[in-house]
Amino acid sequence: MKPFIVANWKMNPISLAKAKQLFNEIKKTKAIICPPFVYLSALRTSGAQDCFWENQGAFTGEVSPKQLKDFGCKYVLIGHSERRKYQGETEEMINKKLKAVLEVNLRPILCIEKISQIKRDINGISKEKLGKIILAYEPVWAIGSGKACGISVARKMNSAIRKILKKNILLYGGSVNSQNVKGFIKEAGFQGVLIGKASLNAKEFIKIVESISN
Ligand code: PGA
Repeated sequence: MKPFIVANWKMNPISLAKAKQLFNEIKKTKAIICPPFVYLSALRTSGAQDCFWENQGAFTGEVSPKQLKDFGCKYVLIGHSERRKYQGETEEMINKKLKAVLEVNLRPILCIEKISQIKRDINGISKEKLGKIILAYEPVWAIGSGKACGISVARKMNSAIRKILKKNILLYGGSVNSQNVKGFIKEAGFQGVLIGKASLNAKEFIKIVESISN
């Protein structure tokens, strides 16, 4: 299977012009790019960074799963640790988001840090729908720190997650770069990676993709 590569731009870049430039430089990688909402319609990417749990109504500032689906998105990040931290997203909220996203046939990329989160995040989701969830193991201390998770810990987490979700696509995220990416795929058993900072640097991002694509 071709590795699954997701670019999480977070709240970057600072202007549409810069977003277009970066997108044009990296689009040939065919990675799933998740830009800020304001750039979605200009770039028409397949991924988004978040959504609400209702599909329509008086929810100021929110974007719905159905709107993303209608727009043409296929994937949406759910429960990123930065949202859990800064927006106070709880496991209950994440659970509602997951259900809403699966209901409209979008594929959620559920970000988790601890095994204990998984069960509460996926509570009450049918077996059939569970299979559609893409999971990203992202240790909080590794995100944006330049200190990626060691391979043996990553491998252990991989098998611990596998005990709960046996067949799901499993990604690693947290300070992935062109030097360490191979280890997560070839040694730690992940099917892909979720890339933050390094996805904002076209040269480095292309290097990452190339190093695991052959
Ligand atoms: P990072 O971010 O690659 O900058 O560590 C990863 C993420 O937060 O998804």
